[in-house]
Amino acid sequence: MSSDNPLRDAQDRRLPRIAGPSGLVIFGVTGDLSRKKLMPAVYDLANRGLLPPGFSLVGYARRDWADEDFAQVVHDSVKEHSRTPFREEVWQQLAEGMRFVPGDFDDDAAFEKLKATINDLDKARGTGGNFAFYLSVPPKFFPKVVQQLKKHGLNEGPGDAWRRAVIEKPFGHDLKSAEELNQVIHQVFRSRNVFRIDHYLGKETVQNIMALRFANTMFEPLWNRSYVDHIQITMAEDIGIGGRAGYYDGIGSARDVIQNHLLQLLALTAMEEPASFDANSLVTEKLKALSAVKLPDDLGKHTVRGQYAHGWQGGEEVLGYLEEEGINPQSKTDTYAAIKLEIDNRRWAGVPFYLRTGKRLGRRVTEIAVVFQRAPHSPFDTTDTQELGQNALVIRVQPDEGITIRFGSKVPGTSMEIRDVTMDFAYGESFTESSPEAYERLILDVLLGDANLFPRHQEVEESWKILDPIEEYWDKHGRPEQYTAGTWGPKAADEMLARDGRSWRRP
Ligand code: BG6
Repeated sequence: MSSDNPLRDAQDRRLPRIAGPSGLVIFGVTGDLSRKKLMPAVYDLANRGLLPPGFSLVGYARRDWADEDFAQVVHDSVKEHSRTPFREEVWQQLAEGMRFVPGDFDDDAAFEKLKATINDLDKARGTGGNFAFYLSVPPKFFPKVVQQLKKHGLNEGPGDAWRRAVIEKPFGHDLKSAEELNQVIHQVFRSRNVFRIDHYLGKETVQNIMALRFANTMFEPLWNRSYVDHIQITMAEDIGIGGRAGYYDGIGSARDVIQNHLLQLLALTAMEEPASFDANSLVTEKLKALSAVKLPDDLGKHTVRGQYAHGWQGGEEVLGYLEEEGINPQSKTDTYAAIKLEIDNRRWAGVPFYLRTGKRLGRRVTEIAVVFQRAPHSPFDTTDTQELGQNALVIRVQPDEGITIRFGSKVPGTSMEIRDVTMDFAYGESFTESSPEAYERLILDVLLGDANLFPRHQEVEESWKILDPIEEYWDKHGRPEQYTAGTWGPKAADEMLARDGRSWRRP
């Protein structure tokens, strides 16, 4: 409730949001995600004073570890990957609340042990029965784990205590499997207690899309078909598939990141202003945008997939996808995908949204480029403006976080030559504090029960409806085009834009 004093309210909003008594159980604690992202994020939150003093972390995995072994694993991962400096006293307090439960997912005795561990922590650390279960496990185990939680009465806390499920992506591999998975989860947890992770929504720069659009007046009037020529959303990675062959082969780049991260970026870029920033209003607007997405009639012409071939990256020779360990040498899995979409509504009719992603591309960069139409009339000689491109507003999601506006300016001198210049906002220059990692924000939000940055199942399903016909088309038609590692992807992707009289940005 707001007080009579607006100044105090403004200050209150700046107070840190601190989680109440609670604990986190991570299934799949030996995996990469847990080691590189989740455990360091928990430590960073503790270091920032955002976790309650008795916070407890329980690991569950098929390892013969004691609590101390688990704490050692967390310690190593924190030392290697955490964002904030290591402080012994913070670590000690956190480590006191660490427990490990060995077992596989159908081990009833292990789930009973988990239950006893949680009860003990409630008494010893005051966690109050409030626990989130983080499923950082291969998707085929999602149903089993949630069913086991129910069977052992872990899905509901005592009294007012909450129990929440955090589900990592991929949420299904098509619409049908996503619907089935959703049914299983909702038999066990109420929707308000299910948190589906799309870690892009936890990124500062992604949340800033909403600030840019709706906290300012100068952008939104131009943010529509009358001024925008097209929008390019790029998520390029320089890494290959690393040790993730088992997960990646058969899934591919479109299912891995377009279905979730890129379509979420599209939804935030295209949606109307929500009535407020509560989860319901946001979902309503994102869903409207996603359900208005229209696929091109000719998927052969307006979608492209590729697969990286042997090449050089950062001065190192790298293997092609088909030569990577664990990959079927006949694999048709895409490591690059580009698709053209339109949004069939009054704001965006006729404006193409080009989405592309790929592994082993020229460099790591994620950006949203809103490219504006050329001026309807130019009083200048064509020779004066021959080097002038189109105005653009580029949201630099990562790694060089910020926003760039590109426009034409007169080149100093005696003639009226006009060339592109840029105006830049860089996080590093405007803010002293570095951005929290996406997983810090998202884990904190789970503990606070704040669902704003988590996609609802309707969004997940709507996104599969967009991707399924493309995947079906690709299944039936040919193979992905090979592209040399370290380049900007298959030639067909350039041709796809050239046919529309446009070209991809070279970030
Ligand atoms: C994950 C994908 O969701 O996002 C990975 O499964 C990808 O394939 C990763 O590498 C990229 O995340 P970020 O935050 O580094 O852009």
